[in-house]
Amino acid sequence: MPEKTAYRLSDSTVAEPLVNKWVAWAHVLPPVPGSLHLLHYQIRILKSYLEDPQVHVRTCQNPKLRSGPFVDIPAERAGEVSEFLSATETRMSRNIELARATIEFQNYLVREAHGLSLDQYYGKLPEALRGYVELVYDYHHRPSVKFFEGMLYKSEYYDKHLQSFRLFRQRRDNDRAFIMSTPRLPEAGLIDWELPFESAEVDELFKLQVKPQPLGYVRELLGLRPAEEELLRPLLSTEPTARAPESWHGAEPRIRYFGHACALIEWNGVSILTDPYIGVVPTEGGIARHSYKDLPEHIDYVLITHYHQDHFSLETLLRLRHKIGCLVVPRSTGFFYGDLSLKLLSQTVGFKNVVELETMEAIPLPDGEIVAVPFMGEHADLPHGKSAYVVRTGRQQTLFAADSDCLDARMYEHLRRSLGPIETVFIGTECVGAPLSWSCGPFFPVKPDFTLEKSRRYKGSDSHRAQQILEAVGARRLYIYAMGLEPWFEHMLGLAYSDDATQIKESSNLLKLAEEAGFETAERLFGKREMLLPAQAHNAHAPHLEDGPTLQPVADSEDEFVFD
Ligand SMILES: [Fe+2]
Repeated sequence: MPEKTAYRLSDSTVAEPLVNKWVAWAHVLPPVPGSLHLLHYQIRILKSYLEDPQVHVRTCQNPKLRSGPFVDIPAERAGEVSEFLSATETRMSRNIELARATIEFQNYLVREAHGLSLDQYYGKLPEALRGYVELVYDYHHRPSVKFFEGMLYKSEYYDKHLQSFRLFRQRRDNDRAFIMSTPRLPEAGLIDWELPFESAEVDELFKLQVKPQPLGYVRELLGLRPAEEELLRPLLSTEPTARAPESWHGAEPRIRYFGHACALIEWNGVSILTDPYIGVVPTEGGIARHSYKDLPEHIDYVLITHYHQDHFSLETLLRLRHKIGCLVVPRSTGFFYGDLSLKLLSQTVGFKNVVELETMEAIPLPDGEIVAVPFMGEHADLPHGKSAYVVRTGRQQTLFAADSDCLDARMYEHLRRSLGPIETVFIGTECVGAPLSWSCGPFFPVKPDFTLEKSRRYKGSDSHRAQQILEAVGARRLYIYAMGLEPWFEHMLGLAYSDDATQIKESSNLLKLAEEAGFETAERLFGKREMLLPAQAHNAHAPHLEDGPTLQPVADSEDEFVFD
């Protein structure tokens, strides 16, 4: 008798992608950044943990410190951590060698080469780098090692067999350990599905959301024995799948907010999703949210602003891969190995249609377009690929600025001259940011000193700088987003804002400034929201700086602004 009951993924099921048991994010997969991150972050913090596990455990109990380099694993499991470390050092010995050779050779080259031909240094390359690099100078005749990134994905330094998914039910939003610092050791009752991310079976699993299948089919897909069905059953549901929302054809562009920097723009039958991270629905409840079931059957474009883990989330992207038409990523130059190519990374994990947009390059839509625009700041002055986007829907233009810092308002004035007024702006005010080494520390051949750490941070605009953007582009509607406020981002960012946090105060001040300037809308988004933009733009035919609301500083105060 064929099995009749069909199962879909439960709304609370998470499939966390892992590489060698660490959560997969952009610094973990590409061979050079991944090897440096392995040696100088993952291995280093495991060794630190093994010296004094209690210190790590206690530190992780402090919400303000849990996003630091502390392993959140009970001290009684230190033996397992020690075994995991040894196994890692064995199975990833080539990556460790690549990391060591990269740093040592760069430092050697900087000491030795001062502008004369680099030809002689190819013979001095360590074996680990041979054939994978070109030696170059910058225009100040400072030497550098430039990697053939695409070739490294085809080398022994990229092992897709280290990839897996951990499947589990999310009980509460905040019960996952911080993704960067804590490997996922084996846990009884959870399923570890070992297969490369690129596999077609991955899409088959996630299609269960809309195409339920018999239990036996799902079990075989995951390679489980019949006796393991009991592990699988809680991850599945027999409740009928809600139909995917119909595509939106209303006269007004519709925007749905999914949390943090994730927004779904629908208009004219086209759907665009920004920086996807979708929260599942925990079994013990939580705040209202749009989740996977609220996404359309097909997403035409996904726009990625930058590779930080809260904007380029492989957990969500791999789950949506089967329904994404085109993945749009910022362009990288490849000169710095930390300026990793999201295009190569995405293609390597199975995305077929990935587009890397140049600044001001556009993708045409029916009576609209997606334009890649500059995204300044937020990367501690490192030249890593980033892009903001202007989405034009008929006569409306909306800027998704993510964590942009308004380092020079003139850029936004140029933007307005080129594109016309941008009436709706989505921007965050995470204006404190982590210090220089927080994520890129493993990449530096020489450790930055304290002065550099203090000065250079991963910070976006404060209210003053965000206000300059609003003024320059002629905005009338402000949505503050990308603040990491939703509880389902805690394991990813560990921001733990208090009510008097600078970022929150700055966002409140920005709302006040916008209200005083007569904005139609000024909101700080949280959880779940749906809005319609007006079909007609206020000033679509007058792209001049004088036309929009203008905010000017009060003469004797840097903190207050009045509408002029
Ligand atoms: Fe960021």
